[in-house]
Amino acid sequence: MKIGIDKIGFYVPSYYMDMRELATYRGIDPNKWTIGIGQEKMAVAPLTSDVVAMAANAAASILTPEDKASIDQVIVGTESGVDFSKSIATFVHEMLGIQPFAKAFEIKQACYGATAGLQMACDYVRLRPERKVLVIATDIARYGLNTGGEATQGAGAVAMLVSAMPRILAIDEKSYMHTNHQFDFWRPNHSEYALVDGQFSTKLYQDEFVTILEEATRHHPTLLDSLEAIVFHLPFTKMGRKALLAYEASGAPESHLSRWLSHYDQASYLNRMVGNIYTGSMFLSLLSLLAMDDSLQEGQRLGLFSYGSGAVAELIIGQLQPGFAAMIDKAAILAHLERREALTVERYETVFLSKVCEEDTPYQALESGYYLKKVVNHQRIYDYQQ
Ligand code: HMG
Repeated sequence: MKIGIDKIGFYVPSYYMDMRELATYRGIDPNKWTIGIGQEKMAVAPLTSDVVAMAANAAASILTPEDKASIDQVIVGTESGVDFSKSIATFVHEMLGIQPFAKAFEIKQACYGATAGLQMACDYVRLRPERKVLVIATDIARYGLNTGGEATQGAGAVAMLVSAMPRILAIDEKSYMHTNHQFDFWRPNHSEYALVDGQFSTKLYQDEFVTILEEATRHHPTLLDSLEAIVFHLPFTKMGRKALLAYEASGAPESHLSRWLSHYDQASYLNRMVGNIYTGSMFLSLLSLLAMDDSLQEGQRLGLFSYGSGAVAELIIGQLQPGFAAMIDKAAILAHLERREALTVERYETVFLSKVCEEDTPYQALESGYYLKKVVNHQRIYDYQQ
């Protein structure tokens, strides 16, 4: 029986920073960020769009009352949790009205967490094909103002409903994975911002990609021939291209590269407009490919390359299902991006530095949807604005 992604939705906060404007302000050639890094816009999260609110909004965009009655698990992948103990998933379970006899929990392994969640969800549904699992990736990528990583920040959430007989992407049981204990990017408990060895991290990412593809080929010599496109974890949109070039340098067939590169711009468009959303980044790239690439056909097979610093990488294989295109609302996706308000650098810095505080005065919602209303007695309280 086929198991996989039946629905996929996303949410980005209502603010963005234009990368050219920010680069100019920082005294950097804008081409370095738009061409060298490959980013146009960076999503900026106001306090009201924290990781919980973003997760709830992404999931609310895809779920029907019937879905909510058949979801047995809410799994959230994140590295921006709001609590060391209580999971984001428990908030979202309540906010969305998922049936109560379900479990809800959070997974952490840098940007890889939601991929582990997706695989757990598939395994669960394989044994119980009448049930569903909600998997959400939600994160705010923060390196700090005027830092080396600033151009690779972002914020957003992607939600996926995993079911039997999925209407978008059936996921193969077999995947290819690799763990390699390293300090390329990490965030100690005391630190508000990620610590990163930037150049080492990009090298390690490329090495992991090549290692996984070589391992996959060893097990299944014709696997890569069968992949029409590969979607990548994209901390910035140049990263996947760098990985493909590293694979080429390792002796990859030219035919694979030209085929995969022919889909690359479409598969990175949304990421270019949003920035790094950590756990959701690869799934945003998948959504981007599905929405922007008119050449995709039912039955084609895709590779999904997930990378989480520290480091864990996995190549998942999926197959596009009959009618998949009808499950993706391209106009709504683009309208969701277009609704955003551009910030000046001054406002971006103010929003970036603002901190949630305990106060009686509730925050005002900036738009319709779920938002953080207030924090009382160290408890986050959310509301829904019509
Ligand atoms: P940097 O030192 O600012 O930039 O660091 P650079 O000097 O490496 O230049 C970047 C590119 O711009 C280069 O291209 C330059 O040639 C080019 P490349 O050689 O790489 O192809 N360039 C220009 N192009 C056009 N016009 C110009 C120009 N000037 C230079 N005028 C870095 C960049 C990404 C390292 C930094 O932003 C950073 O540290 N970011 C955070 C870490 C990161 O994103 N690492 C990616 C791999 S790790 C990962 O993916 C996991 C992660 O998502 C976290 C998790 O798992 O949780 C981060």
